[in-house]
Amino acid sequence: MKSEERLIEQLRQYSDSDYYPFHMPGHKRNRNMGEEYKVPFDIDITEIHGFDNLHHPEGILKKSMEWAASVYGADKTYYLVNGSSCGILAAICGTTHCGGNILMSRNCHKSAYNGVFLNHLNVRYVYPQVMEELGIQGGVLPEDVDRILSHNPDVEAVLIVSPTYDGVVSDIEKIADIVHQYGKPLIVDEAHGAHFSFGEDFPRSAIELGADIVIQSIHKTLPCFTQTAVLHLKSGYINQEEIERYLRVFQTSSPSYVFMAAIENCIFHMNREGRKELEQFYESLSRMRDRLKKMKHLELVDKDRIGASGVFDLDISKIVISVTDTLLTGAELDKILRNQYHLELEMCCADHVVAITSLGDREEGLIRLTEALLEIDSSLSHKVEDEELESDLEWSRKVTTRPEVEMTIFEGVMAEKESVEIGKSVGQIAGEFVFIYPPGIPVIAPGEMLLPSLVHTIQQYQEMGLAVQGLKDRTGKTIQVVKRNRE
Ligand SMILES: Cc1ncc(COP(=O)(O)O)c(C=O)c1O
Repeated sequence: MKSEERLIEQLRQYSDSDYYPFHMPGHKRNRNMGEEYKVPFDIDITEIHGFDNLHHPEGILKKSMEWAASVYGADKTYYLVNGSSCGILAAICGTTHCGGNILMSRNCHKSAYNGVFLNHLNVRYVYPQVMEELGIQGGVLPEDVDRILSHNPDVEAVLIVSPTYDGVVSDIEKIADIVHQYGKPLIVDEAHGAHFSFGEDFPRSAIELGADIVIQSIHKTLPCFTQTAVLHLKSGYINQEEIERYLRVFQTSSPSYVFMAAIENCIFHMNREGRKELEQFYESLSRMRDRLKKMKHLELVDKDRIGASGVFDLDISKIVISVTDTLLTGAELDKILRNQYHLELEMCCADHVVAITSLGDREEGLIRLTEALLEIDSSLSHKVEDEELESDLEWSRKVTTRPEVEMTIFEGVMAEKESVEIGKSVGQIAGEFVFIYPPGIPVIAPGEMLLPSLVHTIQQYQEMGLAVQGLKDRTGKTIQVVKRNRE
């Protein structure tokens, strides 16, 4: 391998370029911010004398995590070095029995589906509302959770993702009350809301609102290393020992002291200067949003959405831009921003793009994104109705089809399978996941019926050049389906 081909060289070159990150991690490659985090080999140790053991904490790590719990107002806080994914796996497996039942919002991340697979669970889905005219998912309604629980007494735990990738927050306080009335625990995937606990201007964290387990990816929205996350517990509805047992299963036996020190560092910083910095960040965001609200064709998803479509609150650090009123697709806008403006966004969907901002952002970056969007917007002409295109966009706004579950995810994954052309797969049962990454929410999960609208969705996403993943066939032409017994 030539030295210039090495990953480290490519990373350095990229870091020296003018490409600006509107994606994770939350430190935004900000070198000034990194000063405090200069933590490589010299402090990278293993479980030597005096430095405790994450899997059996009795000393410095125990003390550190107890301190962290007191900052968050949790009964217990656990440092995670395998991302929120390992916390979600532990939360699911630690609150359900093998072969048991869970109620989950359909817009969960793939790690939640992996948890369902590992514990052979049956899932009841609660569907988030949809901002109809934009095709963007809204929040989960408390009354929907109530209705499903009242019909399914066998549900052992409820898992909701809030905020969503698009920054939409559900009414967690009400949902927690309802779930507790049924005597069950509420798990909240707050992977995208690690900053909530430190900023008055941002939505309140689920840990303050009655959730029993809350998982936050520190690395997504706070200045910390990729992979770092925390899991918070409130006692009452959960078996703490079970959660801890599964954390030992899903976390590496060699947790990085660099990561753990960085998590502690990050919380320490956020609990002091970070609070003030979040206030200033909020002001910068508000200025940016005021300018973006003036766009004529592109639309900024803003706080006026609160109160409809299950949107209880909105995290304004997610800059969500809808292309609904233009002839562009989300993928096209994403490409323009990358190729012409060297701005790398977090995610693009059929109808919108998402830029993640954090207090690691520099004012210069926010201005670059604002001016790029204003310039693109001014170059767009008024939308001329085009029937064919319109029907495709209409389609994408209405991807609310609810898959029919024919077997559990475990059964679907383990069944004997065959490959079928995607276009000919209608009526078959999926044997693999299909999702766009990011956000990693499945369009179809193993064990679900491939309905015509879902097959159409997959094909449309492929045509739009979105990152359709999960298919075994890397060419994207075929899908694995459960083999039928031919008579
Ligand atoms: C909603 C949600 N939950 C969980 C995760 C997993 O987080 P991590 O990457 O920290 O494992 C993600 C990752 O993108 C996510 O978007």
